[in-house]
Amino acid sequence: MTLINNLPKNSIEGLPLLVATPDSWAEAAIEDIGELLADHAHCEMKAAATGFRLLGSYPDRDDLVEAMASLVREEMRHFERVRELLLERGLKLGKPRPDRYVKRLLSESHRGSNPGLQLIEKLIVCAFVEARSCERFRVLARAKLPESLAQFYAELALAEDRHHETFLDLARLYSEDDIEERIARVSKIEADIIQSLPPLSAIH
Ligand SMILES: [Fe+2]
Ligand SMILES: [Fe+2]
Repeated sequence: MTLINNLPKNSIEGLPLLVATPDSWAEAAIEDIGELLADHAHCEMKAAATGFRLLGSYPDRDDLVEAMASLVREEMRHFERVRELLLERGLKLGKPRPDRYVKRLLSESHRGSNPGLQLIEKLIVCAFVEARSCERFRVLARAKLPESLAQFYAELALAEDRHHETFLDLARLYSEDDIEERIARVSKIEADIIQSLPPLSAIH
């Protein structure tokens, strides 16, 4: 049985996202598979690097350390697999392109300078980046890609299915206040960004 059948029909099902990726994105994304894979490899590397930075910044928060140590390993394995797909095609990784999506999400969701909230804000943004990446892998699994690549994206979408929860659980654990309103606010900002970005051969 193909893994694609295990994916939800609705790409945002089970994710904290308000809007599904526009159809125009998948068409643009697969126009240059080399560009898409290179950008994707960098996304996996950045996910690992973010986890690593959080580990280094909050070494006395045990739940965070455990979750990030495991996440960093997993994201690096994804990075290696995407890089292999590039090499198989005779392509190189190259330098990363600026990630307009993550940049905007970070700046537009940031509120004030309360240091106690910095970790919570970071964790919520990470949760949305993870959720959107997972959704895009679901979309790619159903896009007009070579069968082996579509299967790869289905496998990755299933592996990334719970990553957003890891970050939201940590945010709830470390916040003294109720953060549901804050999460809802970021979900609206995220939806606006995703609807306004021009589609590219890139994950975001
Ligand atoms: Fe990943
Ligand atoms: Fe992830």
